[in-house]
Amino acid sequence: MRIIESISEMQQQSETWRREGKRIVLVPTMGFFHEGHLSLMRAVRNQGDILVISIFVNPTQFGPSEDFERYPRDLERDLRLAREVGVDVAFVPATSEMYPEGYQTFVEVTEITRSLCGKSRPNFFRGVTTVVLKLFLIVKPHAAIFGEKDFQQLATIRRMVQDLNMDVEILGHPTVREGDGLAMSSRNTYLSPEQRLKALGLSRSLQEAQTLVDRGERHAAMILDRVRETLGEGGDVRIDYVELRNPLTFEEVSEINGPTLLALAVFVGAARLIDNCILRIPSHD
Ligand code: PAF
Repeated sequence: MRIIESISEMQQQSETWRREGKRIVLVPTMGFFHEGHLSLMRAVRNQGDILVISIFVNPTQFGPSEDFERYPRDLERDLRLAREVGVDVAFVPATSEMYPEGYQTFVEVTEITRSLCGKSRPNFFRGVTTVVLKLFLIVKPHAAIFGEKDFQQLATIRRMVQDLNMDVEILGHPTVREGDGLAMSSRNTYLSPEQRLKALGLSRSLQEAQTLVDRGERHAAMILDRVRETLGEGGDVRIDYVELRNPLTFEEVSEINGPTLLALAVFVGAARLIDNCILRIPSHD
């Protein structure tokens, strides 16, 4: 596996592969790999000739009071794991390479980023779309894959690619969970053993919501009440949002009439955890 730190070297290499007719697939990451990242790499390993991953903790998607500084990092371990999965190139730029002095250009998707994580983290999606667009211009992939745990992020990237006529195929990958249901996240490392038990409320509440729908409940308010109850706010647990939205438009939903996004963001201790599912009416879908 080759490690590339320079933008121009990465661009030249990708240009050469493209001229040779090779298909490039990209897995953008912020590192500190868990099984979720590795399964993204495995999922696309055979979908192209060249598998590139990027490891870059992107400062522009963190708010001033967020965890950019203490976001977990372990480059040596990440590179070893990537090598084992069969990654061809790890693109690992420094912050000064991606955002040199004087940097001032951002790309923004508007409507669908105003709710949920976009509301709680005002510059988050602007930072994500900017860095993803930069990575696409540097790595020149034919396809890129993102996890569905960050449902709104995936929808936002799809929107950007469509709106800006970018020739990159965007693939989604189902959320990877621990055996007990907790969605895998680098931020799970912030949880104490007690907090980790409380964090199980997220995946449990999603399952309970689907059970309510299976039993005929259609009122958003009833479902949201049950989800909040299961999350058990208080002590270490603080709900950021619990919402039911149209998975395409992100408009709020008051009745379940078809596939509906149930999205959660919950602080458990210092960790802000997100999870989601698409609630489905059994006979409709
Ligand atoms: O999902 C992530 O890890 C990040 O938001 C991404 C897409 C790599 C951009 O920094």
